[in-house]
Amino acid sequence: MYQILLKQDLVPNIHLLKIEAPKIARKAQPGQFVVIRIDEKGERIPLTIADWDEKEGSVTIVFMEVGTTTHRLALLNAGDSIADFVGPLGLPTHIDKFGTVVCVAGGFAVATIMPIARAMQEKGNEVISIMGARNKSLVFWEDELRSVSNQLIVTTDDGSYARKGLVTEPLKELLEGNERIDRVIAIGPSIMMKFCAETTQPFGVKTIVSLNPIMVDGTGMCGCCRVSVGGITRFACVDGPDFDGHQVDWNLLFARQRIYLDEEKSSFEQWQSQHGIPS
Ligand code: FES
Repeated sequence: MYQILLKQDLVPNIHLLKIEAPKIARKAQPGQFVVIRIDEKGERIPLTIADWDEKEGSVTIVFMEVGTTTHRLALLNAGDSIADFVGPLGLPTHIDKFGTVVCVAGGFAVATIMPIARAMQEKGNEVISIMGARNKSLVFWEDELRSVSNQLIVTTDDGSYARKGLVTEPLKELLEGNERIDRVIAIGPSIMMKFCAETTQPFGVKTIVSLNPIMVDGTGMCGCCRVSVGGITRFACVDGPDFDGHQVDWNLLFARQRIYLDEEKSSFEQWQSQHGIPS
C-alpha cells in the first residue's frame, strides 16, 4: 500500500496528492507518469508525475475529477492509502540546451509542464512559459511556474484574470517576435495541443506534445493509445507520451478519444447512484 502524505485541493475540481513512493522518487524524470489503482477492484489509470522529492521519498500527482476513479481519488485524504502506484513509466521528455524554449500548458497540465520547465531552465535554456485556463477560478501554480521560467504569460478564455484569450495567441506573437524560438513544448487538452502545433508549423519550430490524454491503462496492453505519428503507428504509453506535434495524425487521435465516452459516462452515473450523489 502507498500512503498519502499530503492532499491539497488546488482549485474546485483539481487536486494534488503527495504519495510515499521512495523507489519512484529516486528514478522519476520530467514527462514520465505513474499508473495508480485505488483498491483491488479499481481500474488502473495513468497520471503524470508533477513533482518528486528523493530525500522525502515522495511523488506528487495532480489530477482533475473527470470520471469514477478520479472522483474516488479526490475523496481520499492524507493518511489514506492506495493499493498500487507503479512507475516511473513512459519515456522522459528530451531535455537539452536548445536556446529559447516556450512551455505551453493548458488547464491542469501546468502541473505536468512544471518539472519540464524547471529541467529546461537548469539546462541553461531561456524558458518562456504560457499557461491558460478557462477562467480565474481554475488558475493554480502561477507562482510556481513563474519561479522556473524567465517569463510567464497567463491567459484565461473569458478574460476574468490576466490576458483574455487562448494560449495560441501569445505563442504566435512570440514566434513573430524578434527573439528566436528554438523549441515549443505544448501540454494540455488534445485540441489545444493540435492548435499549438498548427501555430508553430509555419515557423518550422519543433513542437513536442504529450499524448497523456489518450492513454487508458498506461501499460501497453489495452491498445487504446494507438496513434499515427509520421505515418507510423505508435502507442502513447510505451513510445511516448511525447511526440512531434507536427507529425501526429490529430483526426485519428480525436476519433479514438471519443470511443469510450459512453462507457465513462455510464460508469460515473452508476457510481453516483450507488453513493447517493445527485448527478
Ligand atoms: S494506454 Fe493502453 S496501450 Fe497505451
